[in-house]
Amino acid sequence: SPSDPDLVERARKAKEKLGDKVFVLGHHYQRDEVIQFADVTGDSFKLARDAAARPEAEYIVFCGVHFMAESADILTSDDQKVVLPDLAAGCSMADMATAEQVAECWDVLTEAGIAEQVVPVSYMNSSADIKAFTGKHGGTICTSSNAKRALDWAFEQGEKVLFLPDQHLGRNTAVRDMGMSLEDCVLYNPHKPNGGLTTEELRAAKMILWRGHCSVHGRFSLDSVNDVRERIPGVNVLVHPECRHEVVAAADYVGSTEYIIKALEAAPAGSKWAIGTELNLVRRLANRFAPEGKEIVFLDKTVCFCSTMNRIDLPHLVWALESLAEGNLVNRIEVDKETEAFAKLALERMLALP
Ligand code: 13P
Ligand code: SF4
Repeated sequence: SPSDPDLVERARKAKEKLGDKVFVLGHHYQRDEVIQFADVTGDSFKLARDAAARPEAEYIVFCGVHFMAESADILTSDDQKVVLPDLAAGCSMADMATAEQVAECWDVLTEAGIAEQVVPVSYMNSSADIKAFTGKHGGTICTSSNAKRALDWAFEQGEKVLFLPDQHLGRNTAVRDMGMSLEDCVLYNPHKPNGGLTTEELRAAKMILWRGHCSVHGRFSLDSVNDVRERIPGVNVLVHPECRHEVVAAADYVGSTEYIIKALEAAPAGSKWAIGTELNLVRRLANRFAPEGKEIVFLDKTVCFCSTMNRIDLPHLVWALESLAEGNLVNRIEVDKETEAFAKLALERMLALP
């Protein structure tokens, strides 16, 4: 949808006034009206790296969700301020693992006598508390673009992995990229005593998957894949690894948002693609590549935005930029020092992965 010209002008002016003091990061799921003001766009790995590489910017305006802004705060210096234009932009998957639940899980693993064999690997999509837990227990963070390398590293450190909080990324990486079987994975349910598992099951498992998921990617089903293959003969199915295992198993290609963009850039004219990820990104790609004769459709028939990503809209961005330009620091995301120290350990292990 075309953005309000008055708001566009106001955002432009405020950004101009701030100059090099502000750096705007935009995740690929952001609305077009927001993306037009991003200094860089990227997947969550690229944005974490780019935030850390801007020491001269006093303000980092993060157009994305809360866990991404927290990670940027952890990776930037203390005098840099990270701003999230709408504080209600959370992530329902990240909320599925709380610090209390994860501490309880660690007690369960300790009771079962396996805690010292377990290396935690936490998806970027988690709170700073979970990242700190991960750092404290010798683990690493991963994103959808380096999950295999993170698991390779973790299995050099220990015999088992506790994967938090996305069961699908954990299972898909273990089975698709690491040659494990579905039986090597168990599902830990934080709402059940002992995670809903017996001690024997925990001892036999190689991958202990936290029972979290993304509600956006959870909408894609095996039927979506079969339907689109029937509707569009010769279509390439390309999905994000947060999709369910049967969807990923039936797809032709799997990867992060950045991978999806690169794959479409490299695709030949005349090729047809069905994409299983958030709708803002798929629409932008469909519009961008239509003139080159690449046909790009959304994998499912039902519309599927990430509602929290969508909370960052042009009015919120304008408000944040104008406030900063007037010297008012608003919506700062600041992780407390102790949490930050351990979370940083885990994030730096990720950044150091080969
Ligand atoms: P990417 O790292 O692939 O951009 O994924 C982030 C995310 O939240 C997907 O739902
Ligand atoms: Fe979280 Fe899913 Fe939205 Fe990504 S798409 S931010 S995992 S709710």
